[in-house]
Amino acid sequence: MSKVDNFTIIHKGVRAAINNCVAKSLACRISKKRMIKSLASDIAEMVELISVHAKHEDNFIFNQQRLLLSWGGPIVRELEQEHIEIHERELNIIDLSTRLVNNPTKEDLETLQEELQDYKTVMWNHLEEEETQVNDAMNETFTVEEMAEIIRNLEQSVEKRDKMLMTKYLFPATTTREKLLMMGDPNPSTIKVALLGSLVFPLLHASARLVVATTSPVSDHDSSSC
Ligand SMILES: [Fe+2]
Repeated sequence: MSKVDNFTIIHKGVRAAINNCVAKSLACRISKKRMIKSLASDIAEMVELISVHAKHEDNFIFNQQRLLLSWGGPIVRELEQEHIEIHERELNIIDLSTRLVNNPTKEDLETLQEELQDYKTVMWNHLEEEETQVNDAMNETFTVEEMAEIIRNLEQSVEKRDKMLMTKYLFPATTTREKLLMMGDPNPSTIKVALLGSLVFPLLHASARLVVATTSPVSDHDSSSC
């Protein structure tokens, strides 16, 4: 018996982008304008990446009627609402970072550091719900082929810039085995990749999907970055 993991690998890119901003904010000094600008730029990038990711989940996974009618329906509805609340947090974080660039103060930097750490906590809970509850509901609701089609449709809507952005964070965050899984095709119906030029980067098709044997999990779930 095996199940498809629809979320874990892609979420490694999301987690990496958040961890980067949290770490940068903690290292930031108000006397260093370049550090503040770099932090603000990374925050803008993180928000773009995560907003696009959430939109794709909403439009291609969370709107599946059979999923909504399954036991996972209420959880999906809740997570969809969380996307809205999370985006409000993101807008607040962007405002704070912009204010810091224009007028650096110790108080604003501390507020930004706290907001980013709160945001990370909220996001970790949110991502975990998707990786466990929603993924289980998907596996019980759809066949492997149906899940592959859902993810294929999602992939096709991801714009090149967003793929590149995700790859930037995803590549360093994944294990060698996961990269090989993304680049190879041990199960032809479940893994799709493109290669980025001669560097052979795995250009993420949002579905970097793993078929995980329940008896021997493939992913280490990036515990180091949590
Ligand atoms: Fe989400």
